[in-house]
Amino acid sequence: MTGPLVRPRRLRSTAAMRSLVREHTLRPADLVLPMFVREGASEDRPITSMPGVVQHTMGSLVRAATEAIERGVGGVMLFGVPEHKDATGSGATDPDGILNRALARLRAELGDATVLMADLCLDEFTDHGHCGVLDDRGRVDNDATLLRYREMALAQAEAGAHLLGPSGMMDGQVAEVRDALDAAGHLEVAIYAYTAKYASAFYGPFREAVGSSLQGDRRTYQQDPANGREALRELALDVDEGADLVMVKPGLPYLDVLQEVAAASPVPVGAYQVSGEYAMIEAAGANGWVDRDRTILESLLAFRRAGATTVLTYYASEVAGWYRDGLPAPLREFR
Ligand code: PBG
Repeated sequence: MTGPLVRPRRLRSTAAMRSLVREHTLRPADLVLPMFVREGASEDRPITSMPGVVQHTMGSLVRAATEAIERGVGGVMLFGVPEHKDATGSGATDPDGILNRALARLRAELGDATVLMADLCLDEFTDHGHCGVLDDRGRVDNDATLLRYREMALAQAEAGAHLLGPSGMMDGQVAEVRDALDAAGHLEVAIYAYTAKYASAFYGPFREAVGSSLQGDRRTYQQDPANGREALRELALDVDEGADLVMVKPGLPYLDVLQEVAAASPVPVGAYQVSGEYAMIEAAGANGWVDRDRTILESLLAFRRAGATTVLTYYASEVAGWYRDGLPAPLREFR
């Protein structure tokens, strides 16, 4: 050894020193709360595989969204659970469909106090459960689906959404949604593109959350978990097509992709901590195998460290509440 021992621990020696040198923070406004609203429901319906998350009635949706916003979350992302499904997902474009009604109701109640987001995808509304419409051989028809997405974008914009989240991974979806919005004069409605979205087992509990009828898988349109490079190709296309924000999904298993996308993106980048990630933290926490609250904050902070500006998480409202109420002592250092 030449010279004195190098001591990085000096910067970790007190809470004040750690606070001084902390690179990343997490604020309630960084978090987006995904929410489910069920058509014809008279009471909230728990989602077994996502303890603490429910399919809301219209009334409880308004209450829970209002509470989340009062706690300071950055936005809410709505998913609809319709009573009836069909081959073209007609409930998605019906102004009286559950998702569009919920958007209109929240916009009327909340105005511009939050960023109101909508999942723009057909899978909740189709009887076959795919994100698009099928051709005569049962394959997802990319270009026919784009026409449905155009209609869906207009229905959601007219209902009052600020930010549309095309999540079906059809080629050209951002360009088509942008064009449909612009042609109808919805110049201010923005697009949060699901840019790198993988065909992931981590969506398992979501299928219960939206009562999905999918048989099979989405591997002909969602990305192969083995691939990193094509995330950058999808990013270039989405930005070129007019995406205002881009997203990487799932979250923790794809931090490498998030980091690369964040480094290359000229627009803000989000990460989606998906249903299976939530379920794993809940299960391990309930068993006492991990400290639930610390694990939640550490996972959310990891997205920020990897370069996410916003994080979609089912924990958004709960975590925002911790900040308002004063974080429990072991958590305070994450601020
Ligand atoms: C598609 C969509 C899915 C999720 C969000 N949007 C399901 C899928 O692609 O299979 C999953 C979210 C989660 O697992 O939390 N509408």
